[in-house]
Amino acid sequence: MTTDTTPGAAPTVRHEADPSGVPLLRVEGLVKHFPITQGIVFKKTVGQVRAVDGVNFELRSGETLGLVGESGCGKSTVSKLLMQLEKPTAGKVYYKGEDVTHLSGKDLRRLRRNIQIIFQDPYSSLNPRMTVGDIVGEPWEIHPDVVPKGQRSQRVRELLERVGLNPDFVNRYPHQFSGGQRQRIGIARALALQPEIIVCDEPVSALDVSVQAQVVNLLEELKRDFGLAYIFIAHDLSVVRHISDRVAVMYLGSIVEIGTEDEIYEQSAHPYTQALLSAVPVLDPVARSQKTRIMLTGDVPSPANPPSGCRFRTRCWKAQDICATDPPELVDRGQGHPVACHFAEAVTIVGGDTHVPEPTTDLSEPVETRASAKRRTGS
Ligand SMILES: Nc1ncnc2c1ncn2[C@@H]1O[C@H](COP(=O)(O)OP(=O)(O)OP(=O)(O)O)[C@@H](O)[C@H]1O
Ligand code: SF4
Ligand SMILES: [Mg+2]
Repeated sequence: MTTDTTPGAAPTVRHEADPSGVPLLRVEGLVKHFPITQGIVFKKTVGQVRAVDGVNFELRSGETLGLVGESGCGKSTVSKLLMQLEKPTAGKVYYKGEDVTHLSGKDLRRLRRNIQIIFQDPYSSLNPRMTVGDIVGEPWEIHPDVVPKGQRSQRVRELLERVGLNPDFVNRYPHQFSGGQRQRIGIARALALQPEIIVCDEPVSALDVSVQAQVVNLLEELKRDFGLAYIFIAHDLSVVRHISDRVAVMYLGSIVEIGTEDEIYEQSAHPYTQALLSAVPVLDPVARSQKTRIMLTGDVPSPANPPSGCRFRTRCWKAQDICATDPPELVDRGQGHPVACHFAEAVTIVGGDTHVPEPTTDLSEPVETRASAKRRTGS
């Protein structure tokens, strides 16, 4: 960690990689099941929503890990488990080699200083009754040692300037800003404690496309300047491509493929990743004309009653009998990166010539979807 102490300004910190090579964050067998209850007075548990079901990954110093998957696959639950906003049903989270899964009190506050979060909705994540200055400086009420009292108003102005906002707006309220500007306020607040890791939970999904690029560029600049590591969550592979060093693809509570940016975008080997990639728009007209769109059939199954074996099998065109009985492990089967598919096969999708055969299994098998699960359990 290096500290820049320009005279008159509060110190800013640049985090350096740990020479021992211990990952900044390590997640092992993370599981979160939410109970489904029935009854008003006497609540009875009638099932479990398996929001996260055995997730493993590492985040290294200064790295950006993209976490991608359809709505409801468990991305936000993973981020809440990392922040200790939810307690896991099973599994462990390690920060710099230390087990931080069940911290409380001052140890938890210390962890939260180092791991911050930016939320998807810049409209609801800022208190409408607080000024921007108070919002950005609020974390110092809990961690007063980060910036001495006398330097706080100057530091808030510096942070606003750093995220591209006019420091003279310090006394304005959130409703006086646009969506992109509010997200910048959220970023300034996340930076206030000089964290090492920022979990960005769909930080640009609610913004216009033109504003999305500006916010992503800002996050990249901040990463460079402060040596930050990001977990960058999105439901769209095109959004995470430019910012991520590695990408993990999630489906129904589990990671199905994880690899470097090149491995995922040029040599994806899981049918689900290939389907997501085939939906990414291609600007080059020649490549676009060669592109094959993989249309997934079937609904997303309910996480309360996921399919046996491979969870993707009810929508997979490559499924065989083994897929219904044996859950595929997330391992490297010769593709150079871990893939959870018995028939993993690296394919170049974007702009490439992809042959997608017809499904080999009967996809008419009834699948419990979120809507039908809701009807069944009444919750
Ligand atoms: N507190 C909770 N109680 C019960 N179920 C929950 C709770 N939080 C999340 N879930 C369920 O867990 C599953 C995963 O939710 P999560 O919010 O993590 O998904 P997500 O991938 O972030 O989705 P999105 O892209 O829509 O934000 C969903 O089926 C959701 O309904
Ligand atoms: S294991 Fe079977 S069902 Fe699952 S993705 Fe691979 S081929 Fe498809
Ligand atoms: Mg979410």
